[in-house]
Amino acid sequence: MTHPKSIVAGNWKMNGLSDSIAQLDALAGMLDKGVKADCDVLICPPFTLLSAFAMQTPTSVAIGAQDCHMNSSGAHTGDISAEMIKDTGASYVIIGHSERRADHGETNEIVSAKAKAAIHIGLKAIICVGETESQRDAGQTLSVVLSQVIDSIPSDASADDFIIAYEPVWAIGTGRTPTVQDVADVHAAIRKQLVDRFTEAGKGIAILYGGSVKPSNADELMSVENVNGALVGGASLKAEDFNGIIDAYRK
Ligand code: 13P
Repeated sequence: MTHPKSIVAGNWKMNGLSDSIAQLDALAGMLDKGVKADCDVLICPPFTLLSAFAMQTPTSVAIGAQDCHMNSSGAHTGDISAEMIKDTGASYVIIGHSERRADHGETNEIVSAKAKAAIHIGLKAIICVGETESQRDAGQTLSVVLSQVIDSIPSDASADDFIIAYEPVWAIGTGRTPTVQDVADVHAAIRKQLVDRFTEAGKGIAILYGGSVKPSNADELMSVENVNGALVGGASLKAEDFNGIIDAYRK
């Protein structure tokens, strides 16, 4: 049966200066102790550190960016194209994080166009979806998340071009997490949607959970069916904490 490779990904958001490379080195040292062969480890630093990280990256850690522009080049002051990201040596890019959807008005249509640009250049897109607290309270979780999945994946994408990260907006940076049953229900619904669209190959697309993942809850969350890894914010900034989450894939 097709089974996704697990990924533990750190999203550093707008954190990290040049001395933060020490955290990457420390993490690499910890990974020398071994991770299950079917688990990849990924760090997504801010653009300012992307080149340095990608240049220095040990083979045990993949490097990704946190956003890209939908166009390949041109008059877009302050923006970064997928090709520029690829040129640093990075291999992944996060697209449609809820902070970008909220702070920069990124719609599913924009997210899809950015994912298309990333895929076109050979980056793996991590497409983020997730409901707000008011949407959850209104019982709209599944409809919101599924419509984000349907509309954010580019129409010409194939199953190995992207992965999905489910991040309930209200769980990000709050210390709150959904129940294991809630996570299982949303991931199962996303999996069904992926299988409907990509048939057997849809079973091989990783679906990450994100939102207040830490060493103390990683085991429980990562053992939920259809959870194939984590997208970690705050707890990815320190190698020791992040390594404690990766421990869920050392058993
Ligand atoms: P936290 O792990 O800090 O809750 O952030 C999650 C997230 O947004 C990762 O993309």
